[in-house]
Amino acid sequence: MKSIIYESYGSPDVLKLIKTSTPEPSRNELLIKVISSSVTAADWHLRKADPMMVRFMNGLFTPKRKVLGQEFYGEVIETGGSVTRFKPGDKVFGSTGLKTGAHSEFIVLSEDSVISRADGDIEDDSLAAIPIGAMTALFFLKQGGLKKGGRVLINGASGSVGSYAVQIAKGKGATVIGVCSTRNVKLVREIGADQVIDYKKERLTDHPQKHDIVFDTVGNLSYRSVKPLLSSEGHFISTAFNLGLMRAMMMNTFRKGHKVYTGVTKESQELLDEIKDLIKSKKLKAVIEKTYSMEEIKEAHIHAESGHKQGNIILAIQGGTTHV
Ligand SMILES: NC(=O)c1ccc[n+]([C@@H]2O[C@H](COP(=O)([O-])OP(=O)(O)OC[C@H]3O[C@@H](n4cnc5c(N)ncnc54)[C@H](OP(=O)(O)O)[C@@H]3O)[C@@H](O)[C@H]2O)c1
Repeated sequence: MKSIIYESYGSPDVLKLIKTSTPEPSRNELLIKVISSSVTAADWHLRKADPMMVRFMNGLFTPKRKVLGQEFYGEVIETGGSVTRFKPGDKVFGSTGLKTGAHSEFIVLSEDSVISRADGDIEDDSLAAIPIGAMTALFFLKQGGLKKGGRVLINGASGSVGSYAVQIAKGKGATVIGVCSTRNVKLVREIGADQVIDYKKERLTDHPQKHDIVFDTVGNLSYRSVKPLLSSEGHFISTAFNLGLMRAMMMNTFRKGHKVYTGVTKESQELLDEIKDLIKSKKLKAVIEKTYSMEEIKEAHIHAESGHKQGNIILAIQGGTTHV
């Protein structure tokens, strides 16, 4: 089979498309033919070992797990003897978690991984771009106490996490304010934002309204800068992970009203099942900017690393349709 590997940390030039041997599932594992995967912010952060912390998780000097790719859409080809949740022929989508490895034609995962069946009318290769971004958006919005009628401001509303956060908050009946650049204003409105702030033309503080949740997916806001934008019981959520935010989160117990939430998404089957229900009820879909082939992996990484992708990038592995 073909796999994209990286044997040292660095620029997109470290990525190589090579032939590897197809893995075999053990008793509790599934062999999945990967139809499509995605190239996410996590992929380029891992490839570059940026932040430095990556080296403590994936090898100090060289990467331990050499195949990237954390989400996939595919077909179960073979199951180990004790597997009961899935059978050969099932179309599935899910997350590999920290194991990564979805940038390969086949992958083995234990049946208790975060995987859902892509049954009925939701079968589509864009499902590969949903698990990470959508579970992250849902996980943090839940932490922030998302509720019907609340006001939710999403910074980075046109990116992967942001575009799912807009749809989830809107689906829950919140008033959604999206922040993005001029070229994405139309997109952010189309996916459900009630109001869009174009950060190229206005500042967040130009708007006097207070919000129940400010959700930063960009990493350029601090609790201090967001404080004047929060309602008395408003919460600040950030997918960025830095010391300042960790400190602000640790102060939650000592602070009245405002809470700060950051850290790493705790992926779960419950979250993915909830996302699947939203897809089925047409309240959530992936925004796909472009599909790349395995041969175009370097271009796909350069695109993802720009920090300006519109929604998501698909990596076509074995079949699937093309999003230009
Ligand atoms: N904590 C976790 O567990 C977790 C999980 C998943 C992701 N993340 C992190 O979350 C972050 C977002 O991931 P992503 O996949 O959504 O990224 P992404 O798809 O690359 O999206 C970034 C978005 O940010 C927007 N943006 C850039 N500069 C901006 C600015 N100054 N103001 C407002 N918007 C701006 C861009 O829109 P324009 O082109 O319009 O500027 C772009 O659409 C990454 O840092 C990722 O590592 C964390």
